[in-house]
Amino acid sequence: MALKITVIGTGYLGATHAAAMAELGFEVLGLDVVPEKIEMLSAGRVPMYEPGLEELLRKHVAGIGGSTGRLRFTMDWAEIAEFGDVHFICVNTPQKHGEYACDMSYVDSAVDSLARHLARPALVVGKSTVPVGSAERLAARITELAPAGREVELAWNPEFLREGFAVQDTLRPDRIVAGVRGEHAERILREVYAKPIGHGSPFVVTDFPTAELVKTSANSFLATKISFINAMAEVCEAAGGDVVKLAEALGYDERIGRKFLRAGIGFGGGCLPKDIRAFMARAGELGADQALTFLREVDSINMRRRRDMVELAREAVGGDSSFLGKRVAVLGATFKPDSDDVRDSPALNVAGQIHLQGGQVTVYDPKGMENAKRVFPTLGYADSAVEAVRGADAVLHLTEWREFRELDPEVLGEAVTRRLILDGRNALDPARWRASGWTYRAMGRPRA
Ligand code: UGA
Repeated sequence: MALKITVIGTGYLGATHAAAMAELGFEVLGLDVVPEKIEMLSAGRVPMYEPGLEELLRKHVAGIGGSTGRLRFTMDWAEIAEFGDVHFICVNTPQKHGEYACDMSYVDSAVDSLARHLARPALVVGKSTVPVGSAERLAARITELAPAGREVELAWNPEFLREGFAVQDTLRPDRIVAGVRGEHAERILREVYAKPIGHGSPFVVTDFPTAELVKTSANSFLATKISFINAMAEVCEAAGGDVVKLAEALGYDERIGRKFLRAGIGFGGGCLPKDIRAFMARAGELGADQALTFLREVDSINMRRRRDMVELAREAVGGDSSFLGKRVAVLGATFKPDSDDVRDSPALNVAGQIHLQGGQVTVYDPKGMENAKRVFPTLGYADSAVEAVRGADAVLHLTEWREFRELDPEVLGEAVTRRLILDGRNALDPARWRASGWTYRAMGRPRA
């Protein structure tokens, strides 16, 4: 009999995982504690912008014309426990207020609620990003609470999906990490992932702590790579070098690689910033804090980028100590393109700082407007890039949407007060903008 799968938590990770499991051919039941989410998903709508996800969901959600009907949603823990052979825990672990550590309360409560109902053999699989040591603690908790006792096993199977590529990363992961305590759990996970394994995704079997650490160290490495190139941008600026050329030349060395070497206003989002902080906090608890002190530097280089962008803008518009009387257009609000996520977004943070220093800021983003307005209602918002730049003394390019790369500098030039563009993502073509009479400035690049 084919395995039946449940997915607990239907945010980014869970909604994508549930749809992907249905796509792989399984019967799937998703659970969330927020009724609005269940309602939306059951109607085949996705609560966030993620390319391809809504289509995949509609292909499988029961009750939608022409769907396979393999995917349903519920709020009932007893139904979930009765239905599933494999239960994926996909709830989030945000940063705690005022602390570096992450908040485990959603994971803890999901595991408790599920375990209490588990009266038959099952495999619980953690996917959430958690501090190392959590799986061991949760395994003991499950054995204690589940009516089926030791017949319920735990495995840890971290997720590496990127927003904007979530569907493809889930269906064709570049690796599958299975933290298990025995062969039975490994066998079940191999069955769940048989298709991606068949297509060549490597399957790496580890113990619990290693599986947990793969995730946090992967994100730490990525954050370090970004802060490294941003530190080089600072040096380039001081020495008159060009960080974009530098990154290109470094990237040809296969040991270094060219990805994640884009200098700019740095990393944000719901993962990298909070994961490196939670990792430092956990290392401290383990007495290994010295091993990760470099991450503090990675974090501070990253935060400095936002401040430096504000400084660059202030200097460029000729404001002595503030932005008073200056109109600033901000292109981009999300933390990266192809997403509507504004959590810890460098773009929105820079826009906010300029606004707080007296600038009249108008923001435009292709998909992030609703979320941005919710977080920063006092900023100005426009319905298009051209509207946003109307009358601007400076245009800031802060999220590298394709739409912005395709903008016509001539058309925009007609709308602004002054042709001054600051590229916070090193993604525009300076020659094109300069040819239309714009002053183009970017961090870590020559002024020309
Ligand atoms: C990140 C990881 O890349 C995923 O592998 C991981 O699964 C996910 O976190 C998670 O923990 O759930 P994501 O948050 O979607 O994925 O975003 P990234 O693509 O990693 O980008 C993060 C930030 O770095 C963005 O703000 C982006 O603009 C910035 N970035 C990225 C740069 O500033 N320069 C670069 O060269 C690359």
